[in-house]
Amino acid sequence: MLSAVGPPVTVRVPAKINLHLAVGDLRPDGYHDLVTVFQALSITDEVSVTAAVPGVVEPGVAISPIDGVDASEVPADTTNLAWRAVEALARRVDRAPDIRIGLRKAIPVAGGMAGGSADAAGALLATSSLWRLDLARDDLMDVAAEVGSDVAFALHGGTALGTGRGERLVPVLSRHTFHWVVAVADHGLSTPTVFAELDRLRDRPEAPRRVGDVEPVLEALASGEARSLALLLGNDLQAAAVSLDPGLRRTLRAGVDAGALAGVVSGSGPTCVFLCAGQDAAVRVAAELAGAGVCRTVRVAHGPVPGARLTDGGPPS
Ligand code: C5P
Repeated sequence: MLSAVGPPVTVRVPAKINLHLAVGDLRPDGYHDLVTVFQALSITDEVSVTAAVPGVVEPGVAISPIDGVDASEVPADTTNLAWRAVEALARRVDRAPDIRIGLRKAIPVAGGMAGGSADAAGALLATSSLWRLDLARDDLMDVAAEVGSDVAFALHGGTALGTGRGERLVPVLSRHTFHWVVAVADHGLSTPTVFAELDRLRDRPEAPRRVGDVEPVLEALASGEARSLALLLGNDLQAAAVSLDPGLRRTLRAGVDAGALAGVVSGSGPTCVFLCAGQDAAVRVAAELAGAGVCRTVRVAHGPVPGARLTDGGPPS
């Protein structure tokens, strides 16, 4: 029997959006090849881990407490990616995964902003620090990729080009800070269901148009001009998310009507993100969008921000 002791190690980890998401055909392994540009936003979860030692609870991973936004919708079992991340890390270094994970959520659950992946990345970094593992960054990225397609980016942060399942990353030069309004829906969408819907739509004669090349997006990021980037935001999953949830069309229109430069569904949705000309514009757009009644909550955020980071410099020596 175990109980949690000692001070926790806490990691702050960001949400992601996809500025560009080109989805290839379905692969034999059930995944799709992607070419995507990720950006980490200033909406962050906090992940704390504590060592469990002989005492009063069962050995292995435990997730408790979970608080913050939508806490009641977050599973506290093996389906939680943070749980799987600790188990994958423990396997890699041949240790017992006796860790208690605490989550403070701000990233929407099942929102297309990789909240579960962020928690997995946080749990990986926090546990490797707690255990004082001397893992090379590439090894941690490797474990991250094994846990989920977006986990490596949550460790990486900033702005990055993702290929493969999205787990192969190269940093992208992004000048200036971009200002975003995030419209959170009152429900989630399941990522596999949205990918499957895209495959279904693509089998029909009037298949949705695919997004263009990624190069112009990279150039707009390097120039730092929000207006150039706004013209190029694109997501192949948007047609599938809108097909499953037609109300998203109204949300996307409302953001642009409120003064955003452009809007796009984030990842597999249903969260919609709107690029704004600056911080003041974002605050105005957020206020108007909040009054339009097209989503549950509206947040103002900026990006890029760093990936998973220890909040307190690591475990006490
Ligand atoms: O890797 P992750 O667990 O985040 O993926 C969740 C699901 O999303 C996969 O099981 C798959 O259905 C879909 N997916 C995909 N292609 C990707 C990433 C995810 O089809 N590149």
